[in-house]
Amino acid sequence: MKHLLTIGDLDRGELEELLDHADRFAEVLTRSVPKVPALRGRTVVLAFFEDSTRTRSSFDVAARRLSADVINFSAGASSLNKGESLRDTVETIHAMGIDAMVVRHRSSGAPHRIAEWIDASIVNAGDGWHQHPTQALLDSYVLRKRLGSLDGRHIAIVGDIAHSRVARSDIEAFTALGARVTLVGPTTLLPPTLSPWNVEVAHDLDAVIGDLDAIYLLRIQNERLAEPLIPSNREYRDRFGLTAARARRLRADAVICHPGPMNLGVEIDREVTANDDRVAVLDQVAAGVPVRMAVLFNVIGHGRFDDTPSGGDEPVPAETNEVHS
Ligand code: NCD
Repeated sequence: MKHLLTIGDLDRGELEELLDHADRFAEVLTRSVPKVPALRGRTVVLAFFEDSTRTRSSFDVAARRLSADVINFSAGASSLNKGESLRDTVETIHAMGIDAMVVRHRSSGAPHRIAEWIDASIVNAGDGWHQHPTQALLDSYVLRKRLGSLDGRHIAIVGDIAHSRVARSDIEAFTALGARVTLVGPTTLLPPTLSPWNVEVAHDLDAVIGDLDAIYLLRIQNERLAEPLIPSNREYRDRFGLTAARARRLRADAVICHPGPMNLGVEIDREVTANDDRVAVLDQVAAGVPVRMAVLFNVIGHGRFDDTPSGGDEPVPAETNEVHS
């Protein structure tokens, strides 16, 4: 695999293989030196043209755990502010000699364009409303860990599906892994067409909640809305929020996911996040590291994964420091 641009590029076998690799990297992370030399000598650029907390830091940690060199590029502090085009910016970074570029951009399709412009591996870290494939992989990883398998499991994705790249990627990953997916939300927050997907739709969360193996809550993407699509946060919470009362109707072994950042008191109540073991939000954050290690290794690693501990921090061999007379 040269790039990871959308979940649709992966079939079920490839998805499962990435999750299996993530399991092996998760084991590396439990060691006293949680680092392997797998990407030693390779350079990964984190090119974030849009804000991020979790995704950027977890790619950063993942690349370092594989002994790659990491360059952090932030649009806000770059010559983009001086009018440089995206293409010039990307080609400039590429000229420094990089192997992979992890791209987040507010425009759908930006990572695909960049993959045409430069000869590095491109990993999509979220493009507009379109895709967020590593989020879907880490979500699948957490659900597989908690549920054993996604096969035949019933997962509801609740909320602002229309504007969510997470939803688009999750729908494709979960259904490819055999899950039954129900989208839940008001009509204004559902995409106009669902035809490419094999999903069901419900407008009443209470009608499905008791049947779920997992509930995946989404944030209303206010920054992407030209006008309000719900009457008020309070009404949204009343109909679609995971309140403590609703959480009691969820099965005891169900899993509660949210990609973050969470709007507490809107899509999920603080009481639920604070007290309920079924909430997997921090597992999702933690899974980001091994899953992104698996992705980076897959796109720019050589051959088989060598899991011998890293010599990455050992001193430079003496002969390179010596002056021979
Ligand atoms: C999401 C994103 O940025 O797409 N967050 C994330 O990557 N963890 C979801 C969101 O912003 O609501």
